[in-house]
Amino acid sequence: MRLFIAIELPAAIQQVLLGYQPETDRYLRRVQQSQLHLTLHFVGEADAQIIDKSLAGIRAHRFQLCLHNLGRFKDRRQQSTLWAGVESNADLLALHQTIARQLQQTGIALETRRYTPHITLARCNRAYDTTAIQRFLAQPPPMHCFPVNQFALYRSDLDSDGAHYRIIQRYTLI
Ligand code: 2AM
Repeated sequence: MRLFIAIELPAAIQQVLLGYQPETDRYLRRVQQSQLHLTLHFVGEADAQIIDKSLAGIRAHRFQLCLHNLGRFKDRRQQSTLWAGVESNADLLALHQTIARQLQQTGIALETRRYTPHITLARCNRAYDTTAIQRFLAQPPPMHCFPVNQFALYRSDLDSDGAHYRIIQRYTLI
């Protein structure tokens, strides 16, 4: 099963983020409201029971996150990910590290990329209008804050219209 660990977003924050997504066209796909999340760790193919067991032992504190900026990643095929970022946050990084330690004990090979906390809003290919990307990036960013009281283990299933994310288990922060 393809797994990742992420923070679920309150519906009100998802609503705010929907307002920042560029219009869909044949070169751009918006992330659906229910699918918006902030990834902590991408796990990849793994046994959900083993990962669940390692996450269940985590004792970490609740904290608050604030949206902060808008950005873009471009991959080798010139496909872009358009995202909303959160303000740098020591509690978030501590939770990220705690989870990493737990996952390492299960023998999972973790992502080596630097952690850039972001919420993917849309994906587009190289044919997408670059001025529309510039307009997206030029918007005043959302600044809303929200409480993080739990994190979750998600499964990602690929079907004909892309990946679908579902929560397998939630873990409460203290
Ligand atoms: P993305 O939105 O920037 O693509 C499920 O795929 C989640 O895990 C997404 O939030 C995705 O980030 C993230 N992720 C991180 N590394 C990934 C990888 N190597 N492959 C797929 N998804 C990855």
